[in-house]
Amino acid sequence: MSFNMVDKVKEHLDIVESFDSQDSKEIENFRIKYLGKKGVVTGFFKSMGQLSPQDRKPLGQIVNQLKTEVAQKVKSLKTHSKVSNSSSNVPDATRPGFQIESGNRHPISIVKNKIIEIFSTIGFGLSEGPEIEDDWHNFTALNFPKHHPARDMQDTFYLKTPENYLLRTHTSTVQVRHMETHQPPIRIISPGRVFRSETITARSHCLFHQIEGLYINEKVSFADLKQTIEYFCQSLFQKSKMRLRPSYFPFTEPSAEVDIYWGLETEVDHRITKGTGWLEIMGCGMVDPNVLDNCSIDSNKFSGYAFGLGIERIAMLLYQIEDIRLFYENDIRFLRQFKSVI
Ligand code: PHE
Repeated sequence: MSFNMVDKVKEHLDIVESFDSQDSKEIENFRIKYLGKKGVVTGFFKSMGQLSPQDRKPLGQIVNQLKTEVAQKVKSLKTHSKVSNSSSNVPDATRPGFQIESGNRHPISIVKNKIIEIFSTIGFGLSEGPEIEDDWHNFTALNFPKHHPARDMQDTFYLKTPENYLLRTHTSTVQVRHMETHQPPIRIISPGRVFRSETITARSHCLFHQIEGLYINEKVSFADLKQTIEYFCQSLFQKSKMRLRPSYFPFTEPSAEVDIYWGLETEVDHRITKGTGWLEIMGCGMVDPNVLDNCSIDSNKFSGYAFGLGIERIAMLLYQIEDIRLFYENDIRFLRQFKSVI
């Protein structure tokens, strides 16, 4: 009896092999005929109950083969099938269109572009440079003497080879490159990625973005710097109250840290300003004459100012983001929130 059944299954195997259709309804009927609750395969499995164990085994094997072949056939036919439309081939004009997902910019790019726009309005052009730098452009030309402790202000990733190459720790490198190849007047901003060997926490990361600015001309004064920064703070934050605190950078003299008055209206204001109302947003200063001389610009004739800020920090303030790591995780739920802000 079981031999008969095996032969029957074999017949079905042939039918399955030669079955062909592009019509999705037909394919579905074929699937139901074999794999449905009352289908051929189930029928064979049911009838196996009456068989002796020796007969059951070969039959079981071949029925299982039939089952997988049907499934494979259906799968391969379905990928090529057309939607069956028995009444007509006219497309249904009332069917809703496909929804096209529109992308959006990363918050860091949004803030970066906004800052570029603010500075371009007052005549600053863009200048960019490499992320892998040499010691000269990252440190020495910027008045960091060799073995000077100021180099420790920025923990650096050095390359194993070639020697003396590193991942830039700030985009001041681009300013050096620009000064080496251009004579004043120079008015540039340089956005880009920078790298520091820091522990990753909610507030700091070893990769982040900066924008630095540089203006060199005859008779540039600290008052020019202050006015530019005031204009910038007003344009970006709509806040005009700011203060300059004395600071130190090897490449600027005098140097200052810029704070804006953020306010103390909400609980968040208290938290982010640590109860003071003030927030530090950038470093700045008058370019040290040594830096100008290092870049073949006559420091007796020209002077200039420079400033630098971290884009993540500004984005965190503008969007009230409390953890810097969110910028790098590419979580779509985070990124989708920045569709049309500023
Ligand atoms: N390069 C400094 C930093 O990365 C920022 C800065 C730029 C400060 C220009 C002053 C002038 O911290």
